[in-house]
Amino acid sequence: MIKVLFVCLGNICRSPMAEGIFQHLVEENELQDQISCDSAGMISFHQGELPDKRMRNTASKNGITLTHRSRPFTGKDFQAFDYIIAMDKKNLKDIQILEEKGKGQKYKLMMMRDFDRNESGSDVEDPYYKSDVGFDNCYQVLMESNQNFLNYLVLEHGLTPKN
Ligand code: 4NP
Repeated sequence: MIKVLFVCLGNICRSPMAEGIFQHLVEENELQDQISCDSAGMISFHQGELPDKRMRNTASKNGITLTHRSRPFTGKDFQAFDYIIAMDKKNLKDIQILEEKGKGQKYKLMMMRDFDRNESGSDVEDPYYKSDVGFDNCYQVLMESNQNFLNYLVLEHGLTPKN
């Protein structure tokens, strides 16, 4: 099983949306026996909460139901996951500070928009303090990036997608 973890700050907006989109794409391609995913946040402030209502609304408008409960990133995630995908440069830096705990593990640490053909390497902006438009934009960015990320995994691991 290829295990993917999406990481943002609060784990109530960007990373649960990334997880929901990616899971949707995985199922569309009937790859759920080969790829699994989860998400986590760098702070535990929202631990146990469902994603932000505005993110859930955007998701459901696009046929995706978000049921993840916020949980903090821990050192054990370096062992448990093959791909750790940070939403922005601050998340990436905060994960790198903890990397001592991941010594000898085989995970790959990357940024979500490494897979965005339009703005490669930039941040998935935090929509938390923004209007509803911010949430729709966030969805679009995450869809583009996750389609390419899944294509990358398919090539990297020689998988056979349905679509
Ligand atoms: P997220 O957005 O990192 O995309 O889940 C945030 C949600 C809440 C907070 C920060 C970011 N907060 O500080 O409460």
